[in-house]
Amino acid sequence: MSASSVSSRSINQVPVSTTIKSICCIGAGYVGGPTMAVIADRCPAVQVTVVDLNADRIAAWNDPDLSQLPVYEPGLDVVVGRARGRNLHFSTAVEEAIAAADLVFISVNTPTKTKGLGAGQASDLKWVEASARTVARAAQGHTIVVEKSTLPVRTAAVIQEILEAAEGRGEQKTFSMLSNPEFLAEGTAIPDLEAPDRVLIGGQDPEAIEALSAIYRQWVPAERILTTNLWSSELSKLTANAFLAQRISSINGIAALCEATGADVREVARAVGADSRIGAKFLQAGPGFGGSCFQKDILNLVYLCRHYGLEEVAAYWEQVVALNSWQQHRIARLVVTKLFGTVTGKRLAVLGFAFKADTNDTRESPAIQICQDLLEEGAQLVIVDPKVSEAQITKDLGQGSLGDVNPGGWQMASSAAEAAAGADAVLLLTEWAEFGALDWDGIAAVMRQPAWLFDARALLDPEIFHSANATIKLWMIGKG
Ligand code: NAD
Ligand code: UGA
Repeated sequence: MSASSVSSRSINQVPVSTTIKSICCIGAGYVGGPTMAVIADRCPAVQVTVVDLNADRIAAWNDPDLSQLPVYEPGLDVVVGRARGRNLHFSTAVEEAIAAADLVFISVNTPTKTKGLGAGQASDLKWVEASARTVARAAQGHTIVVEKSTLPVRTAAVIQEILEAAEGRGEQKTFSMLSNPEFLAEGTAIPDLEAPDRVLIGGQDPEAIEALSAIYRQWVPAERILTTNLWSSELSKLTANAFLAQRISSINGIAALCEATGADVREVARAVGADSRIGAKFLQAGPGFGGSCFQKDILNLVYLCRHYGLEEVAAYWEQVVALNSWQQHRIARLVVTKLFGTVTGKRLAVLGFAFKADTNDTRESPAIQICQDLLEEGAQLVIVDPKVSEAQITKDLGQGSLGDVNPGGWQMASSAAEAAAGADAVLLLTEWAEFGALDWDGIAAVMRQPAWLFDARALLDPEIFHSANATIKLWMIGKG
């Protein structure tokens, strides 16, 4: 579909009441669950039903024990506890919930394609297309369909085409299409949703835009609700993630230069970030960015640029991902080098496996690549994470013992001290607050000497660490 045909309202639009009474969200994941919980909490007059094909996930969202929710987010249990059963529902009855809804969010997964056209870069839109087809089939009356998933620019045209086909069959149904990307970060999802920097709504239909804005205005100041056309909204989401990730690769590149020159990346970041044009956020050097979205969204941007013949732009953004991957390998190599060139058979304690603190999510966690590299070198890893389960780590790293050919293997421990017992090194890979407050004297006493601590998050204060403890050699990201 051409841009002009979309801007000339290709989809059947009928006047809608600006009052939304019933919302359905397809996808009960990290975004769908918390986002709908906050909408239900802030809009008690609106019925919100989150649906998913994954029955186990829905059962977990309905678990009476709020500590068993499938997503760990500080404050989520309280919000769900307030709204669930009142106007927040979790269900596998997808079509039923769509039929009852005035507005349907599509919040399904959009991972990078693993095979076929665009493999390794383009987003796999099969779940989005399936959702659009289900909406086309099950919707009744007028339905506002909202892209909540992060999508390539012009995906709305695909969804519109599917919806239009249903309208064309002469059934009594009409649709309006909006884009409303989500900017929450994991670990801070609830505060991000309750006080967002902005809410972005893209679309052509003013009535639909107003209807969705009215929902957000229940708790978001009107001046923070931005409206754009569909394509700007879709592209803004990819661009925001690309800019954030670019800052991390930039500071990680400088961290390596700091280590080589005697500068300290935290001091450099403070000095650079004090410039109000640059700002202080997202300048924390670390083991590389993880999470389900930064890499996927940049690769998608790269794919789009290539598709439109913009090779130089594609190469520019591709480098952000390349540097991130280099950083992860660099840290693993550095550990091997410091431990006399070999970690074969050596016990290494790994503190943190989640891609950041305050989440149980390990998707694209830098810990995965770093651990894989060390396992390849034959290390015996002992992993501690306050929220990540052994089952998840098994999915990410494979079985604990790698067999006879490679002495490498991994196991879990329940505390840092247990993991460090007999270890040659501790690797701090996720910035959980509790790792910043460990008794390093006690840990040093149980480690094999000479012992190393590799602080890949610059979580510790080196001066305090050294004054309290002289027996562990400390390497810190961006300082050496
Ligand atoms: P997720 O994998 O946690 O959840 C997606 C859910 O959708 C799954 O439970 C899956 O079973 C369900 N699903 C897929 N197809 C379905 C269908 N046809 N019918 C019903 N359910 C279906 O994914 P997520 O992390 O919530 O991400 C969702 C989207 O939001 C992605 O596009 C992502 O890029 C974007 N996003 C994610 C974050 C984040 O922090 N995770 C933040 C902003 C945006
Ligand atoms: C990120 C964005 O921050 C959200 O705005 C966006 O909605 C989301 O992606 C998405 O689209 O999925 P998230 O991945 O949950 O959120 O978490 P971030 O806080 O952005 O952290 C991403 C990674 O970058 C983590 O591994 C984190 O440790 C790392 N990071 C972050 C750094 O290494 N340094 C920093 O200064 C900041």
